[in-house]
Amino acid sequence: MEFLSQKPLLITDTILRDAHQSQAATRMTMEDMLPALEQLDAIGYYSLECWGGATFDSCMRFLNEDPWERLRTIRKHVKHTKLQMLFRGQNILGYKHYADDVVDAFCRKSIENGIDIIRIFDALNDVRNLEQAIKSTKKYGGQVEATLSYTISPIHNEAYFVKLARELEQMGADTICIKDMANLLLPMDAYSLVKALKETVSVPIHLHTHNTTGTGDMTYLMAAYAGVDIVDTALSPLANGTAQPATEALVATLQGTVRDTGLDLNKMSDAAVHFRKVAQRLKGAGSLDPKVLNVDTNTLLYQVPGGMLSNLISQLKQAGKEDQYYEVLAEIPRVRADFGYPPLVTPSSQIVGTQAVMNVIMGERYKTFPKESRAMLRGEYGQLPGQVNEEIRAKAGIAPEDVITCRPADLLEPELEKYTEEYRDIAKCEEDVLSLALFPQVAPKFLQQRDNPAPAVQEAPVPKAADPDAVRELYVEYKF
Ligand code: CO
Repeated sequence: MEFLSQKPLLITDTILRDAHQSQAATRMTMEDMLPALEQLDAIGYYSLECWGGATFDSCMRFLNEDPWERLRTIRKHVKHTKLQMLFRGQNILGYKHYADDVVDAFCRKSIENGIDIIRIFDALNDVRNLEQAIKSTKKYGGQVEATLSYTISPIHNEAYFVKLARELEQMGADTICIKDMANLLLPMDAYSLVKALKETVSVPIHLHTHNTTGTGDMTYLMAAYAGVDIVDTALSPLANGTAQPATEALVATLQGTVRDTGLDLNKMSDAAVHFRKVAQRLKGAGSLDPKVLNVDTNTLLYQVPGGMLSNLISQLKQAGKEDQYYEVLAEIPRVRADFGYPPLVTPSSQIVGTQAVMNVIMGERYKTFPKESRAMLRGEYGQLPGQVNEEIRAKAGIAPEDVITCRPADLLEPELEKYTEEYRDIAKCEEDVLSLALFPQVAPKFLQQRDNPAPAVQEAPVPKAADPDAVRELYVEYKF
């Protein structure tokens, strides 16, 4: 078999973000990272993914860390490698749409504090939700990685994604990411999709997958054959399972070929020694459930992203409903079809996941609609990709004329000034205002603790079994 590209394959390592988000509920601390940052920087990666919604939230909610400070610290120690973050279009890192001026300010502050590459995606692949973030990232000198949220459905086929990629390139993407959050992109399909994209767009293609179904390594190899430019892997101590395939395995596989990454396995081994200890600590603390390391081919049936699985397990456990895990997994695709086949990624994964949990634990489907479900059915997150089940939409109390068809953010007045005024007393800087605007339930308590240090960090409350509000709270507030 011949490689369709002669260039070295570039690697983004996710050890500081997606790897521990997917395996260990995003509980890696700055202290865990610090001793290995220079080692990571010396490896020669294309980029290090280190920031995003879940890391940002977990910092404040569980780790008593200022997420901005974390970014600045990483930047101080990582001098040569590009830092990359994940950005949910008009949602930024939150769950609702923010006005354009907030999106703009967040892009500016992320870049000022050390981010080089912003991977911008929209859960529904509604490109109107990417417009402002793309514009602002470019304005402040950042690199735009516009994203295809990959999924499979009656309407999501290769032609759909090729067309979408062409649109993103026209909108100014510097690179295009195929974000396969649930490890659904099988190796042969990856070959075909990457080949088609390379024939259609001229910007580099960056592939992101997980190893939940055990096919991730093969997917990367086939994508490498088809000419993919960059892939996301994780250093071995937190690789595989619901996280990314292992960096070292792919580097070794391509050694001596035209796509040799040129990276030194010895340098990786030094960093891995450190992160093995971190993984051990996370296991000891109960944050890393070994269950997430198993190959789970059910994902191919249920199309649930890795991070969502590990949270689903812990949340059902907390609600005392662990035995209904597989029932919930089976309900998820049914809800997804009713909602017009949204790809399952934050926030649609939480919304569909929460609705599925409700449908199962209430003993009756659609007995209740969390407000986020209603918002999604009303088009507040953007256009749903397929046909919505109108019966369900009516049951949620939404008439056809109430459905939003414009770019949702066009309905929002500028908000930054309002937030600045609202948080005048607790925000010490613009970064604080943004933390508060994005995480209004979490940030005030964190900032209060930061500015008046007390020793104890509060853990999340344990919800009462089958209390729908408590379960909803968990789904909406915890990050997948
Ligand atoms: Co991911």
